[in-house]
Amino acid sequence: MADSVTITDNRTGQTVEVPLVDGTVSAKAWSSLLPGVWFDDPSFSATSGADSAITFLDGGAGLLHYRGYPIEQLAERTTFLEVAHLLVRDELPTASQLKDWQREIAEAAPIHENFHKRIFEGFRDDAHTMGVLVSSIAAMSTFWPDSKDIENPDQRRAEIVRLIAKMPTVAAGAYRRNVGLPYVFPDPELDYTSNFLAMMFKVGDSPYEVNPVLRDALDMLFVLHADHEQNCSTTAVRVVGSSHADPYVTVASAAAALYGPRHGGANEAVLRMLEGIGDYSNVDNFITEVKAGEQKLMGFGHRVYKNYDPRAKILKDTAHRVFDVTGTNPLLDVALKLEEVALADEYFVERSLYPNVDFYSGLIYQSMGFPAEMFTVLFAIGRTPGWLAHWDEMLSRNSRIARPRQRYIGPADRDVPDIDSR
Ligand code: CMC
Repeated sequence: MADSVTITDNRTGQTVEVPLVDGTVSAKAWSSLLPGVWFDDPSFSATSGADSAITFLDGGAGLLHYRGYPIEQLAERTTFLEVAHLLVRDELPTASQLKDWQREIAEAAPIHENFHKRIFEGFRDDAHTMGVLVSSIAAMSTFWPDSKDIENPDQRRAEIVRLIAKMPTVAAGAYRRNVGLPYVFPDPELDYTSNFLAMMFKVGDSPYEVNPVLRDALDMLFVLHADHEQNCSTTAVRVVGSSHADPYVTVASAAAALYGPRHGGANEAVLRMLEGIGDYSNVDNFITEVKAGEQKLMGFGHRVYKNYDPRAKILKDTAHRVFDVTGTNPLLDVALKLEEVALADEYFVERSLYPNVDFYSGLIYQSMGFPAEMFTVLFAIGRTPGWLAHWDEMLSRNSRIARPRQRYIGPADRDVPDIDSR
């Protein structure tokens, strides 16, 4: 049997045979038969926007691989910087490549003092850290005008290092500005995640003691968030980057997409939801409200996972490791009860709604001492190598500018009336 589909235009009787390649049919072949007839797919649920060698995801089976490696193995055996190297430089680093990579990143971590003085301090005292992050990444475009040379692979490589390196510095700076603490500059002697924790939480002149269990857990959380193929923010990178905008404004657009509660903002929304429920005795009422369409169960559901999100499974185990150090999070009982009730309820079963990566991550972050407004910022730090890997992959393949079609449903042709008769 041929691995193809045949489309017949019943108006003319003409047909075209379209090969099935890796589970896709070419829209070009469709257009050759049906010029001016568009696919109606506003959320791109049935549209492949890219050929990508970065991440493989099977939502039905609950599988996630970065460049062929299962997420479970990466989470257990690698650090975030190794995974970042895998994503943006195609392979896990050797021991000597890792040393060079760590040095490159550490050297690029500081940010211009003007950032602290002029950019961070220009925001309102109660500015949300994600708003500060999005604006600050965009502002970085004005500090590195050379970054506009996006067709030069060496320039792209330099900007990728800068962005991965500076993200924690900007994130910690945004936090310290909010809480009125002096900025802490990056320490090149520390590993990536210890350095971030020190920039966040160091007080006074005494050295910051990093707890290795918490550091490793946070580093692993970054690994889990590092890429997730064509999600909303990565698609934003590909769409904005396809116009040949510079990488800073491109990544800022991705961070803006991440901010929303349906995407990366869900981790903060989960915590607010758990706080709102308050006690596990209120869970049943809450679930009734969800089923009546009055609420969403945040941290549940996914466009592509119709099974347990493999990242959520790893996170649930990590939560216990973290709580052994920090003491348990009182909201954990509410979360566990919510999961238990939802997974046994027909509404959630019928719709294949399972916990996603954001369901447990907020509880872990909160126990580590991060305020809720930092949760999505942490997601952004983890996702930065993924965004950049897609940006680089797209540009290295000479992609065309993203420009979908639309179905026009507005008024038909009409004449502009005189202002007095409108
Ligand atoms: N709570 C209650 N009902 C839900 C939920 C939920 N969290 N998610 C989906 N549904 C229902 C939805 O109402 C619909 O019901 P019906 O068929 O009766 O209309 C059905 O399930 C199918 O959902 P959908 O709206 O078609 O799903 P989608 O693929 O468009 O949306 C989603 C995916 C993640 C935006 C959505 O599940 C959601 O809003 N979840 C809560 C927010 C969240 O946790 N987001 C994090 C996603 S994972 C991390 C990331 O990628 O950022």
